[in-house]
Amino acid sequence: MRSLIDILDFTVEEVNELIATANDIIDNPDKYCERCKRKKLATLFFEPSTRTRLSFEAAMIELGGSVIGFSAANNSSAAKGESVADTAKTISCYADIIAMRHPKEGAPLVAAQNATIPVINAGDGGHNHPTQTLTDLLTINREKGGFENLTVGFCGDLKFGRTVHSLITALSRYSGINVVLISPDELKLPSYIKKDVLKKNGIPYKQTTDLESVMPELDILYMTRVQRERFFNEEDYLRLKDSYILEPKKLVNAKKDLCIMHPLPRVNEISVAVDDDPRACYFKQVLYGKYIRMALILKLLEEAEK
Ligand code: CP
Repeated sequence: MRSLIDILDFTVEEVNELIATANDIIDNPDKYCERCKRKKLATLFFEPSTRTRLSFEAAMIELGGSVIGFSAANNSSAAKGESVADTAKTISCYADIIAMRHPKEGAPLVAAQNATIPVINAGDGGHNHPTQTLTDLLTINREKGGFENLTVGFCGDLKFGRTVHSLITALSRYSGINVVLISPDELKLPSYIKKDVLKKNGIPYKQTTDLESVMPELDILYMTRVQRERFFNEEDYLRLKDSYILEPKKLVNAKKDLCIMHPLPRVNEISVAVDDDPRACYFKQVLYGKYIRMALILKLLEEAEK
């Protein structure tokens, strides 16, 4: 049974096919409005979410299907001690496809190993968030026309930000990518990603603490929130949380066609004054998330029926 746990579960060709389908859905929504008739998506969210859960639900509804699920662990039998494996076996009796978010890294993989229906990882701890990555790739594709020869700056919490880990991994498969890592020393990208992804694939990268010094180089600026829920110590969070606040004056030397992205939610990292800048793409990114998830649901259900 085909699932999506890690962005590398799909080849570059498959990612490109998903992007093509999402673009076709954007252009021809009526063509898709009954494609999932009588199919059910189960959204199993053991951790809070606004965009991922509701975009999955909107995606399934716009495909003509329906949705069941829960939005917090304490609304499910996990609160009574039920395992992820048993939850996955149970939901396989009710639904056709699962989208799961869980605070424990690897939980969606365990679900996929025990379910008899496709499982989509909707975020597991500080590990992976492949459907955010597909969203980000669709956004980059639509805003930049492709993935080659881009300088991409990642700014903020690069240690715990799972969306950063997944997107760097995905972009490492394209040519001409340059990566600029902008973070406080304590929130640097984990060494294993530098070694296993950037160095292994020959992706040039540099690290800095100074956003403004690298701003003129960037084609894409990917801002991230400092991930409070992953800190062991509240004092450290409070000290680091406002390390970077993007304000209009910091964009003075940025490229005219810079694409500013953020997986959201934002806390304080991008001033609302930036929202009116034509380079601000983060709410378009939210919308693209629904379309790429429609394409993903279609692909996994079609493969499950083969
Ligand atoms: N980007 C993202 O994962 O947002 P939510 O936590 O609201 O789902």
